[in-house]
Amino acid sequence: MEAVCAEFFRLPAEEKAAFYSEDTDKPNRLFSSTTYELGDEKYWRDCLRLACGSPVGDTKNNWPDKPKKLREVVEKFVEPTRGVGMELLRLLCEGMGLRPDYFEGDLTGGDVIINVNHYPPCPAPGLTLGLPPHCDRNLITLLLQSTVPGLQVSYKGDWINVESVPNAFVVNFGHLLEIATNGVLKSIEHRAMTNAALARTSVATFIMPAADIPIGPAEELVGEGNPPRYRTVTFDEFMRVYKTVGARRESVEKAFKL
Ligand code: OGA
Ligand code: NI
Repeated sequence: MEAVCAEFFRLPAEEKAAFYSEDTDKPNRLFSSTTYELGDEKYWRDCLRLACGSPVGDTKNNWPDKPKKLREVVEKFVEPTRGVGMELLRLLCEGMGLRPDYFEGDLTGGDVIINVNHYPPCPAPGLTLGLPPHCDRNLITLLLQSTVPGLQVSYKGDWINVESVPNAFVVNFGHLLEIATNGVLKSIEHRAMTNAALARTSVATFIMPAADIPIGPAEELVGEGNPPRYRTVTFDEFMRVYKTVGARRESVEKAFKL
């Protein structure tokens, strides 16, 4: 997966151009940098975004057909990777006293979205980030973070480097997991740094909810002396707010906290 994704970004620009789009409604596209509604800052990132059904089936026909092996490799990667995420969600349920299939169904019923993030060498790493501080919007993300360092997480007010472990996933909890567990599990704020020497390609696999389902604290985790800490909203409304206030931990928390 890592090899074929790195190979995609090495294709000549003409071959990638057909897939390039700035239309944020397009589920499959190549885009550059990131434009946030709030600031319009630019970041040092190219991104290939792929929407994958579960199972993949015909959805692979919407992905680039170059490199030749891309569709086959992504399909073989995404199905078991989703399986790992689902198994982790089952284990988290067990730890929290939720029924093991609590997250099965609508909360994980959307497409699996893959972000292949490509950070070219940056001539002035002090001037720009690869990706700004954010928490992912979904329940859980499995990240192949590359052996080139760059990922940092916010920890007790500092940014700390996440050490790269070859052939391992970094597992990120997203906003939805925090809301669904009524704050028992916390979303993790993270960002990507740039470096002057080496290109870095990471692969983030997001298990997404179905489009317009209600998102709120699990009833099982709310009760006497333990009131709901977040409003229940539809995922569409959540996304409208997420896009408006920005993806940072505190702004999203403020917008949904009761
Ligand atoms: C993301 C992400 C981090 C990285 O795609 O949401 O956080 O290391 N990527 O590229
Ligand atoms: Ni992220």
